Amino acid sequence: MSRQPKWLDNAVFYEIYPQSFNDTNADGIGDIPGIIEKLDYIRELGCNAIWMNPCFDSPFGDAGYDVADYYKVAPRYGTNEDLKRLFDEVHKRGMHILLDLVPGHTSVEHPWFKESMKAGRNAYTDRYVWTDNVWEEPEGFGSLRGISERDGSCVVNFFSNQPALNYGFYKPEKSWQQPMDSPGAVGTREALKDIMRFWLGMGCDGFRVDMAGSLVKQDEDSKGTILLWQNIREFLDAEFPDAAMVSEWGEPDKSLQGGFHMDFLLHFGPSHYNDLFRCEKPFFAGEGDVSAFVGKYIENYEKSEHKGLICIPSGNHDMDRLARTIHGDKQKIAFAFLMSMPGAPFIYYGDEIGMRYVEGLTSVEGGYSRTGSRTPMQWDRSTNAGFSTASKELLYIPQDESADRPTAQAQMADPDSLRSEVKKLIAVRQAHKALQSCGEIDFLYAEKNAYPLAYVRSMEEEKIMVILNPSDKEASFSCGLTPTETVYSIGGEITAEAGEITIPANSAGYYRI
Ligand code: GLC
Ligand code: CA
Repeated sequence: MSRQPKWLDNAVFYEIYPQSFNDTNADGIGDIPGIIEKLDYIRELGCNAIWMNPCFDSPFGDAGYDVADYYKVAPRYGTNEDLKRLFDEVHKRGMHILLDLVPGHTSVEHPWFKESMKAGRNAYTDRYVWTDNVWEEPEGFGSLRGISERDGSCVVNFFSNQPALNYGFYKPEKSWQQPMDSPGAVGTREALKDIMRFWLGMGCDGFRVDMAGSLVKQDEDSKGTILLWQNIREFLDAEFPDAAMVSEWGEPDKSLQGGFHMDFLLHFGPSHYNDLFRCEKPFFAGEGDVSAFVGKYIENYEKSEHKGLICIPSGNHDMDRLARTIHGDKQKIAFAFLMSMPGAPFIYYGDEIGMRYVEGLTSVEGGYSRTGSRTPMQWDRSTNAGFSTASKELLYIPQDESADRPTAQAQMADPDSLRSEVKKLIAVRQAHKALQSCGEIDFLYAEKNAYPLAYVRSMEEEKIMVILNPSDKEASFSCGLTPTETVYSIGGEITAEAGEITIPANSAGYYRI
């Protein structure tokens, strides 16, 4: 397992969707100067790290996950100089920032793809995965067909405007399926390293890697993709040992072998993450089951050699807002969970104020059902909630129109708001090593269809018991441990008698043991 950069030990991330964060030039779209303006807001909340979604030149068929130039900031966000300034301003505040690296595919506008579509052989002919002739469709994949001089079908990696870059096939079977060590596949891999070198050299602190598990094809157990990332890990160890790497993979047992420091639990994959916040009966909504999640978590935790490398996000730009399913004070209890688990927590912008999923929106830039989770940040009571001075019709995505929509300003002034609670929770986490990324976790109580959820976090001498009861009923469990000092609590105090601990309905607490 690779050495984790020290700053990850107490990192608390804030995810910024640049187009929806803060617009400074009144075009209705957020921009990099807008992010710089709000860095103090993020720091004040207590976050010390940022993941920013793709900000590169793109036709925006998938909100920027369809890159047209990996080396250039999209003009709507600013310039490369603006991004460099963002890195510097982040570092000045003792924070770190990850860019979003999209290695699996480009947009159809990328010059590599345009070259690759040509009939004559050139340096980019093998940069993407193509079949030998247009009549052959790649089995098991979507494809782009009939759009090129080149006689072939091109494999797509996600939407059909995202042609798949060629990193080779783990077990090539057909003539067009190139092995991982073929010149085309190696060329793509080296081109990826060049991109990473460019931004790391400019001062970014690492990458969140999009669809990290998707690169090598015909790779059932991900063995080929793991080998590929191990090769990239060697490059990073040699040239940028402090760069942090987080994968969108959702299978920590695989990604960590590939040399990633951290992996996300996601709304897809085997983690049961959805059981917590996003299913018919989510655990944190008060009537769900946490046991399957915990079972799987323990399995992954064992495989990661008890390193706190599994990151649990409050949400992200691909899933429904937390507030769609978790209401009122139960959101605070959800955050008491997020801020007390191992691995670095990730807060999706606006989740700290309980921004709502906006129903019924027409898809924007390939968002579809995700569009409702990507609406512009609500800062204050001014026009467009302070996001932009553009006229309403120009806004990137329409905002929550409700009269009681939450705003950052109002919540900062209210000690009982969700944001104040999240701020308090981050501060508590930062004051206790046991609660941070690398503290151990031992589950005390996580029974099927039952409450509460209880676990102990520990680091050296410090041991903190966490008890969470988002249900509407008081709950009890037995354990041989005696909670002493209260480190944090919300919703009422526990009682401990003869080895049985009782926690009030809708409450949470951290206790020293
Ligand atoms: C990831 C991104 C998502 C994007 C997809 C294709 O899942 O998070 O937003 O659409 O990859 O790049
Ligand atoms: Ca703008």
